Amino acid sequence: MRSGREFRPYPGASRLLETIHDGREELWTETVGDPPPVYGERWTEVDRRPLRQFDPTRSKLAAAVLRGWSGDLPAPGELWLYLGAATGTTASHVADLVGPDGRVYAVERSLRPFGKLLALSGRWPNLRPVLADARAPEEYAALVPPVDGVYADVAQPDQLEIFRRNVELLHRRDGCRLLLALKTASMGRERSSTAHLAEAQRDLSELATLAASVALEPFHRGHFMVGGRWGRDQRLPSAVPGRPSRPRGRRRERRAR
Ligand SMILES: C[S@@+](CC[C@H](N)C(=O)[O-])C[C@H]1O[C@@H](n2cnc3c(N)ncnc32)[C@H](O)[C@@H]1O
Repeated sequence: MRSGREFRPYPGASRLLETIHDGREELWTETVGDPPPVYGERWTEVDRRPLRQFDPTRSKLAAAVLRGWSGDLPAPGELWLYLGAATGTTASHVADLVGPDGRVYAVERSLRPFGKLLALSGRWPNLRPVLADARAPEEYAALVPPVDGVYADVAQPDQLEIFRRNVELLHRRDGCRLLLALKTASMGRERSSTAHLAEAQRDLSELATLAASVALEPFHRGHFMVGGRWGRDQRLPSAVPGRPSRPRGRRRERRAR
């Protein structure tokens, strides 16, 4: 399928493209994989670049971008550790973003989704599935080199602790980017979603420099993207020209048409 629409590179992420369709902003990744679609997403080709639609209703990372995430995104050539990869919906897009020279180590502990992830890695050469419990990173540390970034989406009560232990063990010494899809409902119902978010931010800010968290509503209820860079007093990419500083909506999209 070919498209006559204009696709623009997203600021700071050269393999992520944005376009406007029916007044709505859409995200697409330049794929490193082969068809068929992974989860029913649309494919197209623009200037000989094969693209896949990055669906915010299916991926918390796409939702975060559309909600104005201003922190780092996976970039070409980087190594990322992905915790809770399931069948590879978002992990395949992260692999697209790091491109053919990057790699994604995708950890999943449940056998059924792992089987699909393994099959997917036959079509995504830079995706390395790891069947393991993310609570025990020392068990796969020999398989995973120090990484440029850690993405976690495990939806567990101890998601913060799982994330922190993996980052501590596997981050590259000269810097590591952090993305945590925080599911507050998994942290207990006795406190509000915003109280859980505040706790997570407080915990992580002792060890990392955080970008502004974003709520993933209306795409993913009770979820936030939290992250930044490992280490205190790191420089964050807020100065990237053109990076949105607020949720992106229809008004801005109409103006761009
Ligand atoms: C919300 S789903 C992930 C969806 C996926 N990240 C995506 O966007 O396509 C959470 C996944 O984390 C996995 N998971 C939960 N706890 C885990 C653990 N301790 N170690 C590894 N995987 C875990 C679950 O089996 C499930 O597949």
